[in-house]
Amino acid sequence: MENIKIVGFGGSLRKESYNKYLLNEARDLMPENAELEILSIDNFPMFNQDLENDYPENVKNFKNRIKKSDGILISTPEYNYSIPGFLKNVIDLASRPYTDNAFEGKPVAIVSASIGMVGGARAQYHLRQVFTFLNMVPVNRPEVFVTFAQQKFDENGKLKDEMTKKLMKELLQNLVNLSIQLKK
Ligand SMILES: Cc1cc2nc3c(=O)[nH]c(=O)nc-3n(C[C@H](O)[C@H](O)[C@H](O)COP(=O)(O)O)c2cc1C
Repeated sequence: MENIKIVGFGGSLRKESYNKYLLNEARDLMPENAELEILSIDNFPMFNQDLENDYPENVKNFKNRIKKSDGILISTPEYNYSIPGFLKNVIDLASRPYTDNAFEGKPVAIVSASIGMVGGARAQYHLRQVFTFLNMVPVNRPEVFVTFAQQKFDENGKLKDEMTKKLMKELLQNLVNLSIQLKK
């Protein structure tokens, strides 16, 4: 059987983003029968419904990668107790036009890293609400919140917290299992 194809994207544009580090880590922690492709979301335009039938190449390509994937991984920080605005924008772009929602029926898992003590939990729950409208199928367990992220990565951006690694491995395995179940 072909490898399960998971695509991942992040909620932070920052070069040294903890959430980018988490996505890189996920690539190393994927089960053997699966692969993670990290998608770029740099330089996306702001969503404008007048232009939803005429996206630039980078957005068209992003939508295609999402559609062709078996499952999705999102790694996000929490901004002001919610989803970063530009992550919501990326999701809005790929969900339109209405009859062409790239996320339709897709399994999805979330991880989050923040420097605070809640680890992005509030952003994760807001994201789950968005998944409902998009008709996505979220993995519920385990929940992976990387709290006090500044203490959890080494100077090369590698995750050094064994408990977080263990939970991420389990989450990715569950995402892959769900993706196999739902594969058309
Ligand atoms: C606009 C803004 C709002 C933030 N709001 C929160 C917040 O509500 N909760 C939280 O835990 N951290 C918050 N933070 C801190 C982030 O957790 C921290 O900047 C983190 O490093 C962002 O993730 P990144 O490293 O992937 O860019 C905020 C940061 C910014 C820039």
